[in-house]
Amino acid sequence: MTTSKKAESPTVSIRPMRAGDHSQALALWKRSKGVGLRGDDTPAQLTAYLKRNPGFSLTALSEGKVVGTILGGHDGRRGTMFHLAVDETLRRRGLGRQLVDLCLRKLERAGIPRTHVMVIATNRTGRRFWKQMGWAERHDLALFSSPFKKVRPAKP
Ligand SMILES: CC(C)(COP(=O)(O)OP(=O)(O)OC[C@H]1O[C@@H](n2cnc3c(N)ncnc32)[C@H](O)[C@@H]1OP(=O)(O)O)[C@@H](O)C(=O)NCCC(=O)NCCS
Repeated sequence: MTTSKKAESPTVSIRPMRAGDHSQALALWKRSKGVGLRGDDTPAQLTAYLKRNPGFSLTALSEGKVVGTILGGHDGRRGTMFHLAVDETLRRRGLGRQLVDLCLRKLERAGIPRTHVMVIATNRTGRRFWKQMGWAERHDLALFSSPFKKVRPAKP
């Protein structure tokens, strides 16, 4: 999958995420305000996530560097997306939309009719983006989470 929207834009390709993308992906997440990072964004956790949800997460590359990511998965009923990020230098060229559309298509092909994303309430760019994607902001739900605990990923 390759995109080069504008003549002067660098060529960006998108492929399924690999565990080996972790260090560059983590660097992108760290510099992308709006990505909620927790202690569980370790190489082992990413490996486990990709293994449990094969093929849904995507990495965008430009000149061999990770410039975009999305983590996608499902529980058999609903899809979830995490860690959508596009390098600041490549924003507003449709890459975020492309990552979401591709991931969503893969989830739909797997029989998942509905997907959710959690956006940090203060992330105005993120909220605008998802609205622009045609996703509906929910005001009828409150999110409850268990206390955060560091656990080891299950052994394969
Ligand atoms: C959110 C993010 C992934 C969008 O990536 P992107 O490649 O710039 O998005 P796109 O170019 O596909 O934008 C699609 C549409 O979303 C809207 N949009 C995107 N960024 C926007 C911004 N900063 N302000 C207002 N609208 C915005 C626009 O309508 C845009 O279409 P347009 O450029 O034709 O007007 C990127 O800004 C990012 O990485 N942000 C930091 C991390 C983050 O907040 N991630 C989301 C966590 S839920």
